[in-house]
Amino acid sequence: MVHAPNRPPAGAPPVRINLYSDTQTRPTPAMKEAMMRAEVGDEQHGDDPTVHELCDRMAALMGKQAAMYLPSGTMCNVIAILTHCGKGDEVIAHETSHILHSEGGTHAALTGVQIMPMKGPRGMFTADDVRAAIRPKTRYAPPQRLLEVEQTANIGGGAIWPLAQLNAVAEVAHEQGWSTHMDGARLMNACVGAGIAAKDMVAHYDSVWLDFTKGLGAPLGAVLCGDEEFIGRAWRWKQRLGGSMRQAGICAAACIYALDHNIDRLAEDHANAKALARGLRQIPGVVVEEPDTNLVFFDIRGAGMTVEQLQAKLAMRGVAVSGLGGRVRACTHLDVTAPMIEEAVSEIRTALAAA
Ligand SMILES: Cc1ncc(COP(=O)(O)O)c(C=O)c1O
Repeated sequence: MVHAPNRPPAGAPPVRINLYSDTQTRPTPAMKEAMMRAEVGDEQHGDDPTVHELCDRMAALMGKQAAMYLPSGTMCNVIAILTHCGKGDEVIAHETSHILHSEGGTHAALTGVQIMPMKGPRGMFTADDVRAAIRPKTRYAPPQRLLEVEQTANIGGGAIWPLAQLNAVAEVAHEQGWSTHMDGARLMNACVGAGIAAKDMVAHYDSVWLDFTKGLGAPLGAVLCGDEEFIGRAWRWKQRLGGSMRQAGICAAACIYALDHNIDRLAEDHANAKALARGLRQIPGVVVEEPDTNLVFFDIRGAGMTVEQLQAKLAMRGVAVSGLGGRVRACTHLDVTAPMIEEAVSEIRTALAAA
């Protein structure tokens, strides 16, 4: 039986403070208005004007030649890997990466690549680590084809790769003739957090995608960017996988709305995450990682409770958090306010005191 991760226990009240994930935001009335007004066409035929507008804006934002609208971030990763690599190729990625842990075994099932899991603190590795991972080009070794990074690194604690490190690992990859791909599920959090423009952040990456369903608050969709030739080949995979859509402009309009209204405000989520970390740090037995962005990871083993026990106790109080990599993860996003943060700290303190 494959379970849904976030089902509240029987008898739990409705969730009033949702720190489970930044994917759980609800479209605002203004975003829905924008969706209702969208001009639409047949996206699969290339004539949805709103999807074109979104793709043009994304290509410009990322400083790439072209962009493609897709239903999800997972599909962006899968299509990018299928476009860059062939079966039996190797992808260099961090051992905590989403492509390794959270895409349903897609590489064994679909892409046929293998992943070399790189080590390093906070979901990152260095140029020296990449050099050490280079295999001899013999008939024995898998051909290495792609380097993949996550900006921000999710299980890495929402950490922002420093620009110099991001560029340095890409440089080694390009020296080897590999391509580079960025999983930008939370790229705009990194850009706002570091004060760096997206096109500068991704300049050394051949492909990059941004998710609109995380901090940006849209109900669905992600946009994959790259050069014309890459996006042209990626379209073949979009078609094959059933990712070509029809009147998708209705959803693309929500993404355009998010570009206009929900990027700068990510700074509020980061401030709320810092406030949450400060509050949690006052609770005996709780070890908190300092957040760079909107993800707060904390270890409660010292407080004598498991992640699942804490989740269950909080759920009965209408507070949702998730567990990831053996730690508790609390996400801030546009449906979480500063007073909710104070309340969440108090609920977590009370729950842990019962241990
Ligand atoms: C780092 C990272 N990559 C990829 C994804 C997949 O995105 P989606 O849920 O849109 O398929 C997620 C989703 O949580 C993520 O956190």
